[in-house]
Amino acid sequence: MRILSGIQSSGALHIGNYLGMIRPMVQSQDRGELFCFLANLHSLTSVFDGKRLNDNTTEALIDLLALGIDPQRSVFWVQSDVPEVCELMWYLCNITPVGLLQRAHSYKDKVGKDVPANNGLFTYPVLMAADILLFQSNRVPVGKDQKQHLEMTRDIAIKFNETYGEVFTIPEAEISEEVAVIPGIDGQKMSKSYGNTLDIFAPEKDLKKRVMSIVTDSLPVEAPKIPESNTVYAIYRLFADEQKAQEMAQRLRAGGYGYGDAKKELFGVLWEHFLPFRKKREEIASHRDYVEEVRRMGAQKARAAAQPTLHRVRELVGVA
Ligand code: ADP
Ligand code: TRP
Repeated sequence: MRILSGIQSSGALHIGNYLGMIRPMVQSQDRGELFCFLANLHSLTSVFDGKRLNDNTTEALIDLLALGIDPQRSVFWVQSDVPEVCELMWYLCNITPVGLLQRAHSYKDKVGKDVPANNGLFTYPVLMAADILLFQSNRVPVGKDQKQHLEMTRDIAIKFNETYGEVFTIPEAEISEEVAVIPGIDGQKMSKSYGNTLDIFAPEKDLKKRVMSIVTDSLPVEAPKIPESNTVYAIYRLFADEQKAQEMAQRLRAGGYGYGDAKKELFGVLWEHFLPFRKKREEIASHRDYVEEVRRMGAQKARAAAQPTLHRVRELVGVA
């Protein structure tokens, strides 16, 4: 079984990325053949500073290695190092109805949040379909927000197969309902594009400050609170063990326990959870040659895997 997923390199990776996608992807290395890449071409829809994008991509590469992506056991590459994906995207564009793209929630959400409404953003789902279809992926672990993009990928694959002949595997999304959508510090979906993240590798002081600034209601300390309706608890329960999570829920419900205390506990579990990864990250970051070698080797493996499908597609559309 081939499992594939990608993550944008538009900014520091955050705990929504981690729970929604990085951790499932790392775990999937034990049950199939993992293809994992940094979607830096997708990041071009929101980052308009070349140096920043390049730096972010290298940092994200190191982050993922530290978090457990094993470049020996998986194929791990940077999207732009495999130009075949752009060529496939063009073939797919020509069978993709405009109406399909117009229905994309993510496009509408991003434009609503001031991401420029350009053609790259509009066509984003077709590039994503090319990422997935080029490698004949069976399963795609992603966060819930990517569900519609996966449905679009399937529609595009089916349409292509019907038009030209069976070439693409129809992929399936793997979405963890438990994790669903992790809220950001403002209570909306945590996203690099929205500036509301808790970053996995933020320095201690910064992470603490971010956790302390999570938006809550303004109930006083004494008041009983509903755990399920606040962001602090929503994140805490995903990192604390079950007993501790229940304890916090009880304390919130009972009253006499304020959000400030809950935030301090949240910071504690987050810090502890990522401490081992942080140490590994420091070590990897000090071996830049190794990081470059991983990138080179990943691109080679990914290009080799992409070639047969791209050749077949070229023949089918009549440009071979
Ligand atoms: P961002 O929205 O921060 O730019 P990406 O779009 O690069 O993140 O998402 C990378 C992966 O992380 C995707 O699989 C996405 O579903 C997952 N993800 C992103 N934000 C969240 C979130 N708030 N909750 C759960 N999963 C998320
Ligand atoms: N659009 C995805 C996101 O923002 C990132 C991505 C790009 C992706 N190409 C992909 C995810 C292919 C899975 C498969 O999260």
